[in-house]
Amino acid sequence: MERIMVTGGAVLDGEVHVPGAKNSVLKLMAASLLAQGRTVLEDVPGIVDVRIMAELLRRLGCDVEHDAQARTCSIDVPAEVGHRADYELVRAMRASISVLGPLTARMGRADVAVPGGDAIGSRGLDLHVEGLRAMGAQVHVDHGYLVTEAPAGGLRAADVTLAFPSVGATENLLMAAVLARGRSVLTGVAREPEIDDLVDLLVAMGARVQGRGSSRLVVEGVRELGPVRHAVVPDRVVAGTWAYAAALTGGSVHVRGARPEHLGMVVAKLVEAGAEVEPTGEGLVVRGPARPRPVDVATLPYPGFPTDLQPFALALAAVADGSCVVTENLFEARFRFAHELERLGADLVVDGHHVLVRGRSRLSAAPVEASDIRAGAALVVAALRAEGTTAVHGVGHVDRGYEDVVASLRGLGADVRREVVADPEDELGPLA
Ligand code: UD1
Repeated sequence: MERIMVTGGAVLDGEVHVPGAKNSVLKLMAASLLAQGRTVLEDVPGIVDVRIMAELLRRLGCDVEHDAQARTCSIDVPAEVGHRADYELVRAMRASISVLGPLTARMGRADVAVPGGDAIGSRGLDLHVEGLRAMGAQVHVDHGYLVTEAPAGGLRAADVTLAFPSVGATENLLMAAVLARGRSVLTGVAREPEIDDLVDLLVAMGARVQGRGSSRLVVEGVRELGPVRHAVVPDRVVAGTWAYAAALTGGSVHVRGARPEHLGMVVAKLVEAGAEVEPTGEGLVVRGPARPRPVDVATLPYPGFPTDLQPFALALAAVADGSCVVTENLFEARFRFAHELERLGADLVVDGHHVLVRGRSRLSAAPVEASDIRAGAALVVAALRAEGTTAVHGVGHVDRGYEDVVASLRGLGADVRREVVADPEDELGPLA
């Protein structure tokens, strides 16, 4: 087990590079299952989740080479692939569920373990299931596995209206529709840039999709798709993480690779808090204020404020010059982070899905625990503004979404290091 030790006080200065998006690359890897042959993805981030998805694809019969140095992932898909995603992989990474659509569409069957309760709240699959049923699939749960079976002759096109613009359901239904017979109309779909990236990949593979970027996708099913080469869209959440880190420390960071057009609401909130944000053609330069102004933030599906950046907004508010309210509308348990932030001295009142934050001029170091990827990164960032040395435990979560947060922060001048944590019995003596 490891922890990240952060000594507060640094004013970040320098530049960072934003790799391809975690929330895109995993779906693109799943989409490769739709075509026999070698699909090559570029700008693939060197994160643990990519290794998990690579393993899942291998177990389905694909030959996967992930070259971390070259940032490529090459996936050779055979004519016949398996149809089972084991519990141990789905449990380790919920995005495994995105093989459901491609396997049902191409192989006519999928057995995917149902993910358990997630650390950021219960996350249903009802929209995925309803959509696949509308396309003619039989779906049932068997011993903890979601089993889908396409009708003889394959899935058929359907008109599906999502009750909520779920990212995961949009992706699964889109990947199913591209090989279904006929013309599907998917309405009320998510509009995240990662969905656009998936549409781009599918269209390059030969799919017929209209409505990219809108909440209505019209998909004309085709008989087969072909493998392609595709560069993953830059990670707007990682970009936002660095932007908030600059703002929180009153520093100046050139976030190379950030796409301003994907960060509209985030930039607006940072500017409202007193940061200066300047597009450079290659990314964004973010300069933080000496003391941020309080800013109300409410998470919403894209183009609203991303739920994945909500913990960073909360951390910035914790040192603001006044009070504000942060509201989480997407995931119910995402405020576990708020209680860890309280351990760093933040003055918060959590009420349902709102947090009232009374800004303080300083935070103070304490041992804290990451409950998920973003909470972990946000604790590391918040600790930069805390007096003393903070130990962030649960670093494994951070590695799932960030390439090397410690090296990047050190490059920006922060006093940060990784440490191996001794077994509790080593520190406390034998436990009964
Ligand atoms: C994805 C991202 C996650 C991001 C989120 C919102 C991945 C692996 N994860 O998650 O990082 O925070 O988008 O941008 O890409 N819901 C249902 N029924 C369904 C589907 C969803 O009730 O069938 C609910 C969920 O419980 C949740 C909300 O809808 O409250 C959002 O879910 P969704 O947009 O699907 O997010 P994910 O795809 O899980």
